[in-house]
Amino acid sequence: MPFRDLLTATSLQSVTASRAGDTTSDWRQALPALAGSMVTLRELRLSDATALLTMLSTEEVARFISPPPTTVEGFERFIAWTQRERAAGNYACFAVVPHGMDSAIGIFQVRQLEPGFGTAEWGFAIGSEFWGTGVFMDGARMVIDFAFDTIQTHRLEARAAILNGRGNGALRKIGAMQEGILRKSFLRNGEYLDQALWTILDEDWRAQRVIWGVRVH
Ligand SMILES: CC(C)(COP(=O)(O)OP(=O)(O)OC[C@H]1O[C@@H](n2cnc3c(N)ncnc32)[C@H](O)[C@@H]1OP(=O)(O)O)[C@@H](O)C(=O)NCCC(=O)NCCS
Repeated sequence: MPFRDLLTATSLQSVTASRAGDTTSDWRQALPALAGSMVTLRELRLSDATALLTMLSTEEVARFISPPPTTVEGFERFIAWTQRERAAGNYACFAVVPHGMDSAIGIFQVRQLEPGFGTAEWGFAIGSEFWGTGVFMDGARMVIDFAFDTIQTHRLEARAAILNGRGNGALRKIGAMQEGILRKSFLRNGEYLDQALWTILDEDWRAQRVIWGVRVH
């Protein structure tokens, strides 16, 4: 599956244009910049291509995700595609930029699995030098808030290859629930891998947010 379709794995649902004239219209014009305690999430820029190539094309990052582009031009094409899909209201891709830096060190993506984003899927990848630093949790909270508060998702899915210890550990830590195993659902390097299906529901997220005491709406 092409990298642009998602960093986790396949979805059988078709991606179709979402309803026009709903609350999603603002983010379709430009993604908001979201500031956390460690990172800012913002729209991708073509100038992020070189940094993303360095961060995301390494063996350890790409091991369990759809193959990332292998050239700067490939990332530029991916970035241009993300902007078209955002403008069409199908998909959002945020660059992860640590405070004090200008360049992107990773991405978070959300795409609709049905028109109107009721069910959506998210995926993420961060340069390995930033693993275990808290950057994932900081960015993940903001992108999940964005999914539930801005684009009105009610069920957010993620798929992670069972062998992907960090991916599954990160999803468990953020509070996702493992609903089941999707057997041999992801083709990687000529081999079909099992994936875990992880979900977060809007009501669960709101309840968890109250317990954390952050950004209670
Ligand atoms: C997925 C990713 C964004 C997570 O970011 P991260 O900084 O590594 O995540 P964190 O360190 O905050 O959390 C990972 C958790 O998994 C745990 N973990 C690590 N290896 C593990 C393993 N083999 N089995 C189980 N848990 C594991 C970590 O200990 C950590 O939990 P802790 O903080 O409670 O100790 C990052 O690892 C990445 O970009 N990976 C490559 C791309 C990818 O796989 N994307 C996800 C597809 S689902």
